[in-house]
Amino acid sequence: MSEKVAAHYTGHGDLADLIAERLRSAGINLDSLATTDLASVDEFHVRGRQATLELAEQMRLTPQHHVLDLGSGLGGPARTLAETYGCQVTGIDLTDAFCVAAGVLSGWVGLGDRVAFQQGDATDLPFADDCFDAAMTIHVAMNIPAKDKMYAQARRVVKPGGIFAVYDILQGEGGDVLLPAPWAREPSISHLATPQEMTDLLAAAGFKILDTVDSTEAGQHWFAARVARAAQEGPPPVNFQTFLGDDYAEMATNQVRNLAERRIRTVTYVCEA
Ligand SMILES: C[S@@+](CC[C@H](N)C(=O)[O-])C[C@H]1O[C@@H](n2cnc3c(N)ncnc32)[C@H](O)[C@@H]1O
Repeated sequence: MSEKVAAHYTGHGDLADLIAERLRSAGINLDSLATTDLASVDEFHVRGRQATLELAEQMRLTPQHHVLDLGSGLGGPARTLAETYGCQVTGIDLTDAFCVAAGVLSGWVGLGDRVAFQQGDATDLPFADDCFDAAMTIHVAMNIPAKDKMYAQARRVVKPGGIFAVYDILQGEGGDVLLPAPWAREPSISHLATPQEMTDLLAAAGFKILDTVDSTEAGQHWFAARVARAAQEGPPPVNFQTFLGDDYAEMATNQVRNLAERRIRTVTYVCEA
């Protein structure tokens, strides 16, 4: 199952090389790259960098904090937190190619000393109890059937009183999700929880839910605008297609319908350990 998930996300060669090549072709100088230049490819979730910033605002972060990012992908959210709040972020992700590329991209933007990425499974974390001040996870659990294990692990490694911020794609009331979607081409790696299941899972793991925000409508508008802009002006130099491949166009079309027809919902939970 883990191999299937990793194979879904990558399989297109060296990701950092690929991204560097596309940026250079678009005339972007890697020596003066800003984190925002990478946001179209490394903030791999609905509403991108803006959603990460909104989530981070609720995490009570300080420069002294060490934060865990579960399912860190190419590392965009981790770098956004490290850059904005001066904190240290460790990312863990099942897909080794993402972890390797995340390290390279962090060096490009001068954040290599504040973020670190390692391959691993969110349901079996290789960290000691109570060793992070806070944790977050963005659009990851939809690949994970054993969400109870994932949230129990998050609770174990976050210090009591620390924030666990979750922003995920949930099963909506509008029917089965249309695939391929950005997180799955086929049903065996798509595992969406309903909103009720999510609140039950987080409570069962020992978290107190402080705040819940449903951003489905904003996500629908964001995604539709992104697709329309790409159709009109062409895609940005790097985007999710850079690593997902050519069927990303179909995934994006399906994702707009998934959101519009409420087959999925995007929901944020701010929890206290
Ligand atoms: C849609 S991407 C989101 C990446 C990142 N959080 C972001 O928002 O840019 C989902 C990520 O979850 C990772 N993932 C899926 N299952 C996982 C697991 N069991 N443990 C750790 N990471 C996992 C995938 O490898 C992928 O990088």
